[in-house]
Amino acid sequence: MASVTSLSDSVQQHLASALSATLPEAAGADPLLRRSDRADFQANGILALAKKAKANPRELATQVVSQVVAGDVIKDVEVSGPGFLNITIADRAITENLAARYADETGRLGVPYAGHPGTTVIDYAQPNVAKEMHVGHLRSAVIGDAVVQLLEFTGENVVRRHHIGDWGTQFGMLIQYLDEHPHELDHKDAQVTGEEAMSNLDRLYKAARGKFDSDEEFKTRARRRVVDLQAGDPQTLAMWQKFVDESKIYFFSVFEKLDMEIQDPDIVGESGYNDMLADTCRMLEESGVAVRSEGALCVFFEDVKGPDGKPVPLIVQKSDGGYGYAATDLSAIRDRVFNLKASTLLYVVDARQALHFKMVFETARRAGWLNDDVKAHQLAFGTVLGKDGKPFKTRAGETVKLQDLLDEAVERATAVVREKAEKVGLTEQEITENGRYVGIGAVKYADLSTSAVRDYKFDLDQMVSLNGDTSVYLQYAYARVQSILRKAGEARPAAHPELELAPAERALGLHLDQFAETVLEVAADYEPHKLAAYLYQLASLLTTFYDQCPVLKADTAEQVENRLFLVDLTARTLHRGMALLGIRTPEKL
Ligand code: ARG
Repeated sequence: MASVTSLSDSVQQHLASALSATLPEAAGADPLLRRSDRADFQANGILALAKKAKANPRELATQVVSQVVAGDVIKDVEVSGPGFLNITIADRAITENLAARYADETGRLGVPYAGHPGTTVIDYAQPNVAKEMHVGHLRSAVIGDAVVQLLEFTGENVVRRHHIGDWGTQFGMLIQYLDEHPHELDHKDAQVTGEEAMSNLDRLYKAARGKFDSDEEFKTRARRRVVDLQAGDPQTLAMWQKFVDESKIYFFSVFEKLDMEIQDPDIVGESGYNDMLADTCRMLEESGVAVRSEGALCVFFEDVKGPDGKPVPLIVQKSDGGYGYAATDLSAIRDRVFNLKASTLLYVVDARQALHFKMVFETARRAGWLNDDVKAHQLAFGTVLGKDGKPFKTRAGETVKLQDLLDEAVERATAVVREKAEKVGLTEQEITENGRYVGIGAVKYADLSTSAVRDYKFDLDQMVSLNGDTSVYLQYAYARVQSILRKAGEARPAAHPELELAPAERALGLHLDQFAETVLEVAADYEPHKLAAYLYQLASLLTTFYDQCPVLKADTAEQVENRLFLVDLTARTLHRGMALLGIRTPEKL
């Protein structure tokens, strides 16, 4: 089934042709249409056009109105204020348009694909080996997953890359310690949980660190190990692999808790670019993009200076020959552009790494790896704060364990679900399952409903609250529709375009009509919070609709069917929208 043209698009086209008929030089101009409280839509574009044409805006507006053919879609158009146009849509057009979305058997609700799909390589969910994941890793995973869903829905070819921190000098210390204490990563059972894996790693990390800091001879042995690792010594590599494998058990357990699908082949950590580092440096040096400075290979920037006014370079190779984070990221760019054929590189990474990416991207542009056809963008996110507004820590000042945090969210959500369980008729199994969907949904939604770049407060009480802008509110809105549909008995949802619509029905219908535009815009701008805002408003309009319009007790059988159709389409839109954010909508709640 073809995509559905939205009402706002139809109105836009009508107005644009009326405009160019009135004022030929205005051909192609934007009438600046938006939803309005005064009418269904208001167009403000005539003001600027009149100014340019040195015409009286009200007169011009009146002429445009006379050119608009009121018909199937536009019921009425009037001039208002200094030269705005107020447009009212025909009830029939609203219902027919929604019916076309409802009939879309692809489940896309009539949402078209984006005009020019490309290949986006998205770098997200990138924790570090042998280290606990923290709330920053949570943000990257949650935002990244939503952006993946959104892009794929618009037809973009998406390649996922989990750039885990699995390389670096700290592995010398870890491997050496494991070599000297070979049973530290042994398991009692074949089935090791993520939590056990992490506590093994954590214990080993602390012990190795302690020894490294206190024992000079161990330090020397550990340093020698780094050299062995970089030289690819098989025994050293095998031990390194143990750390990676143990960490993956932990990562996967967290991702599973997050109800998120992460595939092993998409985990290409820093180590994956090891073989490219020397070439990357050679290319940068030969092209003159990077220069030697005090032994190190550096790239300089006009606008990047330290507090002393001296330029701060991006170091691609240290004076001791070692490669760091930047060399790896530059190599990853080459891989993503030339092997994966990306047209867009997206990095869902903490805003505190903005300078790093600015320098890395600029270096890649100078080298010709990025250009007008291949762009890179950091989708930077802010810091997670505690209720007190300070960076999120435990009382003892330690980073909060992600597992504990998610468990607590699920626990609280389960309590909320349990309160209503009897009334709704939930089994114990459904309570557990819904508790999980509500708890994890709450954490994701709280993250996704604020603009990514802003810091946000991690407040579980607020997150699982039934009122206000929370995922639970949206999930209840969905479940309430399902409950009505179950109670409808013989009555089935069916559109009746001949019926007149009540104001709350029109408002709901016109908002449903904006779903396609919202999704496409949100995907193009990487702004999932605007989808969250759209869905919250949809649920609020549904609540108002219930207050004003009985569904099963409506006056006529046709009206019952039409209202069932309206709420069912609303539920499907909520379901689809929440899925794009990575959040489930249970049928009963
Ligand atoms: N592992 C890094 C961290 O924990 C994030 C990696 C971001 N991605 C990248 N390509 N540098 O901060």
